[in-house]
Amino acid sequence: MKSSLHILKEIISERRTLKPQDYSSEKVDDQFIQQILEQANWAPTHGYTEPWRFVVYKEEGRNRLGEFLAKYDQPDPESEGFNAQRYQRLADRPMQASHVIGIAMAANTNPKIPEVEDLCAVAMAVQNMWLMSHALGLGAYWSTGKVAFSEEFRNFMGFDDSHQSLGLFYIGKPNRDNPQGRRISGIETKVRWES
Ligand SMILES: Cc1cc2nc3c(=O)[nH]c(=O)nc-3n(C[C@H](O)[C@H](O)[C@H](O)COP(=O)(O)O)c2cc1C
Repeated sequence: MKSSLHILKEIISERRTLKPQDYSSEKVDDQFIQQILEQANWAPTHGYTEPWRFVVYKEEGRNRLGEFLAKYDQPDPESEGFNAQRYQRLADRPMQASHVIGIAMAANTNPKIPEVEDLCAVAMAVQNMWLMSHALGLGAYWSTGKVAFSEEFRNFMGFDDSHQSLGLFYIGKPNRDNPQGRRISGIETKVRWES
């Protein structure tokens, strides 16, 4: 029997980025998404700020999200610079996933806790979601880019200016095996031990 340490190491090192084009059209049951979100909430924070906020887009909600992503920062469809192919690609992407989770951070009001700490905490919550997705046999992917941090996306998610949007977390049933993991260099190149 595998020890829990062995299982934990496997889940961490074998988690991969799997994008919407790598998902089948099969839907993920909402209860799995709920389990993923429950574990996000176990991320640690300084001062119990618990700053992660999520909006889950499923079914037709994904269509509205796709339309927003396609229209963001694009020339008007009537204008010359409009790229219909790009528009359609962006509009279709959320529909290739079973669920897409919008990620945001709620600013805390404690002057002793700088924003960077809450950003770190949200990233830990997303890592929990990513590890959970992998452990449940699902593909997942944190997508950012210019739109991710924009005021427009924050507004689209329904958050006011005390929030920062931080991107999208795509989830779906994989239609392929996980790709081989890759890191540019080993941990020894990123650590200095001092004694
Ligand atoms: C904060 C964050 C933002 C990311 N944004 C993007 C993105 O916008 N586009 C993309 O292709 N990958 C994005 N990724 C995924 C990385 O490309 C991916 O994690 C990296 O290539 C390592 O692969 P792995 O996750 O399979 O180990 C993001 C990852 C993180 C942690």
